[in-house]
Amino acid sequence: MKNKCNFDKGIDRRNTNCIKWDINHLIFGEKDVLPMWVADMDFEAPPKVIEALIDRAKHGAYGYTLHPRSLKEAITDWEFRRHNLKIQSDWISFSPGIVPAVNFFVDCFTKEGDGIIIQTPVYYPFIYACDRNNRKLVNNQLIQTKNGYEINFDQLEDQLSDPDTKMMIISSPHNPVGKVFTADELTKMAEFCADNGVILISDEIHQDIIFSGNEHICTSSLSEKIAQNTITCVAPSKTFNLAGLGFSALIIPDEEKRNKFQKYMDAKGIHGSNLFGIIAGEAAYRHGNDWLNELLIYLEGNIDYMENFFKEHLPKIKMQRPQSTYLAWLNFREYGYSQKELVDKMVKEAKLGLNDGSAFGAGGEGFMRLNFACPRSTIEEAMKRMKTVFS
Ligand SMILES: Cc1ncc(COP(=O)(O)O)c(C=O)c1O
Repeated sequence: MKNKCNFDKGIDRRNTNCIKWDINHLIFGEKDVLPMWVADMDFEAPPKVIEALIDRAKHGAYGYTLHPRSLKEAITDWEFRRHNLKIQSDWISFSPGIVPAVNFFVDCFTKEGDGIIIQTPVYYPFIYACDRNNRKLVNNQLIQTKNGYEINFDQLEDQLSDPDTKMMIISSPHNPVGKVFTADELTKMAEFCADNGVILISDEIHQDIIFSGNEHICTSSLSEKIAQNTITCVAPSKTFNLAGLGFSALIIPDEEKRNKFQKYMDAKGIHGSNLFGIIAGEAAYRHGNDWLNELLIYLEGNIDYMENFFKEHLPKIKMQRPQSTYLAWLNFREYGYSQKELVDKMVKEAKLGLNDGSAFGAGGEGFMRLNFACPRSTIEEAMKRMKTVFS
């Protein structure tokens, strides 16, 4: 395919109140680090999205807004075309983000002291959703093998059969380990949950960032029984770089759960979405397909570059090739550093702002997470800096 988008160009995000670029001193205690952490991209959104936002902005009135039927159609079409997931538009609710949605689900469907299963190392807001809402965190830690991460199904079966366990939250695909779960793995997890009356929250925010040779399976597409027990979270935010617009969609096929959740949202007074999130989300889902295909090729080029660089210059840094997400999960364990030493070396010596792997819970020690959704030149610079400090 001919590349029409110039991802090499990137975009200068400094001095735009950008979390990734403008608060280095607060996050890393150093001003001059190259930030490669929070999961958004250093690329412009698709041109059609920018056009739609400008058109709407020109109107001049930004009052309360509906979720138009066309928006729900754009989401259902996208899910069907791209992921073979058949959903009805009335199964969709909206949330300003998936992180708040996960917390709403915890609050709505479980009570204090209930057990919630997560799989560390995992996106740390899942850990907070348990801890900060006084739920019992039940860790079905992923098992690291030579060929990637696997699920500890024996442990999971035990954990699900505990009557205190009420919910399981998965990141599918998995942030930070970059794993795309197979249909077998998902079926087993989701069937276990359904059989034990444990509601499954399938956070599929990374579902569109899938690299060649891998296929994302939507949990809810596996069977009717699974769909009825699963809530799926999707969003255009990671895929099209719209995270600042506060827009995500929640798919709840089971009527009872849907009504309960709607009542909960009504009771909290959470209605509506950000007008510009709606406009951008619909434009992205309607017109973003080709742009996304080009993005994936570019990101895969970044993976190739890092993989070759590590092999050639830094063989002690192990990178399991990500199957999904624009987040590389880098294993520094061979160096034998303490986590503090590792983070200090990365920040103070290499001047690189990666995520500290230990933030992702048990299993994250000795790792760092690097966001590679940036121009190749940024990756080259980061590799150069790492080589100076870690070779
Ligand atoms: C698994 C996962 N869920 C949710 C989010 C963020 O969701 P939101 O910005 O919609 O709250 C992220 C961002 O990195 C993520 O990796």
